[in-house]
Parts: sequence; C-alpha cells; structure tokens
Amino acid sequence: MALRRLVVVVVVAAVAASCRQGLAFPAMSALPGLPVAGLAVGFYNATCPQVEELVLAEMRDIVQRDWTLGPALLRFMFHDCLVRGCDASIMLISRNRTGEQDAAPSYGLRGYDEIEQIKAKVEEECPMTVSCADIIAMAARDAVYLSQGPRYPVETGRRDGKVSVMCDANNDLPPPFSNIVDLKTYFSVKGLGWKDLVVLSGSHTIGRAQCSTFAADRLYNFSGSGGQDPSLNKTYAASLREACEAGLQNDNTTVYMDTSSPSTFDLGYYRDVYSNTSLFLSDQALMHDRWTSAYVERMAAAASPDEFFSDYAVAMTNMGRIEVLTGDNGEIRKTCGAHVD
Ligand SMILES: *[C@@H]1O[C@H](CO)[C@@H](O)[C@H](O)[C@H]1NC(C)=O
Ligand SMILES: *[C@@H]1O[C@H](CO)[C@@H](O)[C@H](O)[C@H]1NC(C)=O
Ligand SMILES: *[C@@H]1O[C@H](CO)[C@@H](O)[C@H](O)[C@H]1NC(C)=O
Ligand SMILES: *[C@@H]1O[C@H](CO)[C@@H](O)[C@H](O)[C@H]1NC(C)=O
Ligand SMILES: *[C@@H]1O[C@H](CO)[C@@H](O)[C@H](O)[C@H]1NC(C)=O
Ligand SMILES: *[C@@H]1O[C@H](CO)[C@@H](O)[C@H](O)[C@H]1NC(C)=O
Repeated sequence: MALRRLVVVVVVAAVAASCRQGLAFPAMSALPGLPVAGLAVGFYNATCPQVEELVLAEMRDIVQRDWTLGPALLRFMFHDCLVRGCDASIMLISRNRTGEQDAAPSYGLRGYDEIEQIKAKVEEECPMTVSCADIIAMAARDAVYLSQGPRYPVETGRRDGKVSVMCDANNDLPPPFSNIVDLKTYFSVKGLGWKDLVVLSGSHTIGRAQCSTFAADRLYNFSGSGGQDPSLNKTYAASLREACEAGLQNDNTTVYMDTSSPSTFDLGYYRDVYSNTSLFLSDQALMHDRWTSAYVERMAAAASPDEFFSDYAVAMTNMGRIEVLTGDNGEIRKTCGAHVD
C-alpha cells in the first residue's frame, strides 16, 4: 500500500513538470469562497496607491480605440486563470511555439499588446512592483465596468509564473462545444462550482466570436448529423448561416455573442440562453442542469441586473484565486511577455 502511494506521487510530480493534466487532478488552490493568504483588496495601497486609476485610464484609452478589446481582455483573464492559475503565464512567449499562446484554444485571443501597454504605464510610476497577473485581473474588471457593468473590488497580490506549456491550455480550457457535465468538471477541478459556471458564463453578454468556434457544432454539423442544432432558434440560426459560410474550417468572420446588446454588460446573455438564441453549445448547455437552468431562467426574467452583478463580483473573485502565486513565489518582471525558450 505504502509503495503504491509512493509510485502515484512520483508519477504526478513527473507530469506536473511538463503538463498539468488539468482534468485529472483536483484544484490545488483554496476552495471557492475561502480567502487566499497573500491576496487582498488594495494590496498595493502602500507601494503603488495609484495603480487602479492607472489601469482604468489605460483601459479607457484602449476601449475608446476599439471597444471589442474590452471583451477580449475579459476573455484574457479566463485564459490566464484557468490555465496554471492566475499567474500571467499566458503572456510568456515560446520561440519554439510550445507555450500556452500556441495552443489551439488560444487561437484568436487578443489583448497581449494591451496588457503590455498597461504594464508599461504602471512600470513608469511603480517600477518592479505590480504583477502582470494583477494587471490582467484589473483590466478584466475594468472591461466589465466600461461596458456598464459593476466596478467590483479586485483582490491583488498575485505574482507571475515562469512556465508556459501548450498542453496546459489544451487541457484546462473548456471548449465551446462542451456539454454541461464537461463544463462542471472543467470548473470543479479549478475549485469552481455550478454557480461560478453559470455566473461567469454571463461574460458572453459582451463581445464577439469567430464562426469557426461554433458554426460546425450549431449550424452545419450538429453532433455529426450534417445539419443544424434543433434546439437553436430557427430565425437566429438563419441569420448566423448568412454570416458563417458552410464548410469553411477557419472562418474568422465574427458575430456578436449577445445580439441585442453586444457591448453592454447586462442580462441579455441569460435572455439569449433562455430563448435558445445563444451562440455556443456550452451556453445552451446551461439549460441542461436544474441549478444552472434555474439561474438562467431567473436572470432572464429579472428586472434588475443587481443580483447578477453581485454574483459576478463573487465569481470573478473566486476565479481570481485559482492557483495563485503569492509572497515569495513567482516573480515581478519588467515586461509581461518574457521568453521561456
Ligand atoms: C487599501 O485601502 C482600501 C481603502 O481604504 C481598504 O479598503 C483596503 O482594505 C486597503 N487594503 C490593504 C491591503 O491595506
Ligand atoms: C526549444 O528550442 C531550443 C533550440 O532552439 C531547444 O534547445 C529546446 O530543447 C527546445 N525546447 C523545447 C521545450 O522544445
Ligand atoms: C460531420 O461530423 C461527422 C462526425 O464528426 C463527420 O464524420 C463528417 O465528416 C462531418 N461532416 C462535415 C460536412 O464536416
Ligand atoms: C425565434 O426568435 C424569433 C426572433 O427573436 C422569435 O420571433 C421567434 O418566436 C422565435 N422562435 C421560437 C420557436 O421560439
Ligand atoms: C481572416 O482570414 C483571412 C484569410 O484566411 C485573412 O486574410 C485575414 O487576415 C483574417 N482576418 C483576421 C481578422 O484575422
Ligand atoms: C428552447 O428550445 C427547447 C427545445 O430545445 C424548447 O422546449 C423551449 O420551449 C425553447 N424555449 C423558448 C423560449 O423558445
């Protein structure tokens, strides 16, 4: 028995050095809802008191230039936190093209230059003080705020990782065709529950998606049937078919995710999911679980976004705590996009 345990531990360590195998291992961070030592709202109060204002000012500049960068930077935090924790490893550059950035799920991810722009501004005023991981978390919050969403408090104090491995991104990011069982599993291995799942999915209330991420699944080859997803509203499907060409594998044409209010952080997403006019299988999948579907139904009918907004603050805080490096772990570096090979 003792020997068997030892063997298992050795195998885990060997795998962890190269690829984290997200779905196979339980989360190493604190359980959701529990504070993480080293993270606090206002971590930079003494060392860089103006950091939140600096990030917000840059974010205003960025979304004024191109509003779609707001939703892109919100997506960015998911790609950071769900893969190896919120440690800015998504920013690391692999010359060998074997880093997180090079993984298929990172295709079309935007915001690298903008995170670097914000970091440069922060470096001017507070050199070698603020981590890239914290900048990603603040930028995501401000993307929400600048889309008329809540300006919730962001915990800071994260430090940046030095490892970026393609397979982590392949393993740990739920694909857009995930069913409800897969979605809950992807989240639970990160310490996130059904409530986090349904609330964080509400991020799809802003932004766009490329046809290649949903057209086959929902319009042209649902479950390999060669046809359309029968649960998709026919009128909506027809308009999507106009935008997305059949049989085009890498169609980078973009459509809005929440058609009625694509740049406003509101309850539109839940109304879409409830009325069968959401974009991804993973959105519609929220109707296939009694708890997530009940939440969708309640938010779709809600008169005010207040409950969603306060749930969102909690869920983003939970996600922001995944496998973070604090204290003496990790590093603070001058630029986020360091080379790993
Ligand atoms: C930073 O200051 C804010 C506002 O006064 C306060 O709410 C927060 O607790 C402070 N955080 C730390 C870590 O000192
Ligand atoms: C990356 O490429 C370098 C040479 O350019 C090589 O020495 C190294 O082993 C490669 N690393 C990986 C992880 O493939
Ligand atoms: C539809 O999916 C099935 C099963 O994955 C596949 O065999 C078939 O080639 C696909 N059809 C098209 C037109 O891509
Ligand atoms: C599909 O959506 C259209 C437009 O939003 C709506 O008029 C229609 O009633 C919906 N169809 C069904 C079956 O729900
Ligand atoms: C979309 O794809 C076309 C052809 O593959 C390419 O020329 C174009 O630059 C791409 N557009 C974007 C925004 O990536
Ligand atoms: C959505 O589709 C399901 C069947 O897939 C149907 O039972 C339900 O009534 C539809 N909802 C609306 C609001 O049209």
